[in-house]
Amino acid sequence: MSPVAPVRWGFLSTARINRRILAAAEKSELAEVVAVASRDPDRAEAYAVEHGIARSHGSYEALLEDPGVDAVYIALPNSLHVEWSLRALAAGKHVLCEKPLTRSPEEAEEAFDAAERAGRVLMEAFMWRHSPQTAKLVQLVEGGVIGELQLVRATFSFPLEGRRNIRLDPALGGGSLMDVGAYCVSAARLLAGEPERVYGEQVIGDSGVDVLFTGVLRFPRGVLAEIDAGMYLPRRDGLEAVGTEGSLVIPDPWLAQRLVLHLRRGESREEIALPPADPYRLELENMCAAISGEAEPLLGRDDAVGQARTLQALYDSADEGRPVEL
Ligand SMILES: NC(=O)c1ccc[n+]([C@@H]2O[C@H](COP(=O)([O-])OP(=O)(O)OC[C@H]3O[C@@H](n4cnc5c(N)ncnc54)[C@H](OP(=O)(O)O)[C@@H]3O)[C@@H](O)[C@H]2O)c1
Repeated sequence: MSPVAPVRWGFLSTARINRRILAAAEKSELAEVVAVASRDPDRAEAYAVEHGIARSHGSYEALLEDPGVDAVYIALPNSLHVEWSLRALAAGKHVLCEKPLTRSPEEAEEAFDAAERAGRVLMEAFMWRHSPQTAKLVQLVEGGVIGELQLVRATFSFPLEGRRNIRLDPALGGGSLMDVGAYCVSAARLLAGEPERVYGEQVIGDSGVDVLFTGVLRFPRGVLAEIDAGMYLPRRDGLEAVGTEGSLVIPDPWLAQRLVLHLRRGESREEIALPPADPYRLELENMCAAISGEAEPLLGRDDAVGQARTLQALYDSADEGRPVEL
């Protein structure tokens, strides 16, 4: 069997999060980062030199015109995700776009329509979904280990430092629900399906974005989820699935560095530990395999559209002070 040539990746921007994908590509035979673009040509060049990337481009447009790039990783501010996904797809590139792709279900549909038309892969980069820990959770819940699912609790918060951050800018799609709350929504939907009704409460900070968000989501068959997300709270991560006969707690569900699930049933407590596995590498390799036609992308249209619809409904609810039916 002849080895498959690595997918040649370009980075749209010099975002901080790029380093995770760079590190993953360095370890993988399926991916190679060959180009980086920045709004500032000097920044692009310095970044390329620092990280040993072959080519730098002084604009995102120039990278999209680079025939030696097969796929782009988009880690731009949230408000630019769909625009640049569409432009990249129109230029014939496959797209791994950082979460959240969008909070507009219509835009999510538009982006996947464009991917279909172009015959290219588009995936929303929820790396936590690629962790074997997440797969184990789903397997245990679906296998009935905690009985019938009743409640999901999901938490993600951190202390944001400084005042200049894309997360604080309403025009760039900032906000705690968009940033970290999106993981909690993703988890509730993964376990319970699509919500029927949501209720959100938010605290808006000085810059005009939600710095604290909590939500209650009601799913079919009477399953409820509670989510909370904050950008001026201590670092907290957690996911709990509660059933009629027990509960499963994951202390590190999102960054998924230490893979362990705590199972509690009656008086019995069990720790289910898994070997470490880099979720960014698994995400990148799933995307590369999808590009070469050897795998399905783990996350596609339905997930991105359902995710966007739920985020928008939660914001509508918090803005209007009433529950929103979906
Ligand atoms: N999956 C994860 O684990 C994870 C973790 C962190 C963040 N993220 C996501 O990744 C994205 C980027 O987050 P980040 O923390 O890496 O952001 P960041 O370091 O602030 O990078 C954003 C990049 O966007 C470019 N950009 C274009 N227009 C901009 C504008 N008007 N203002 C500011 N920057 C602009 C800049 O690159 P140039 O100046 O080079 O053009 C900048 O480096 C977000 O969507 C976030 O939700 C995901």
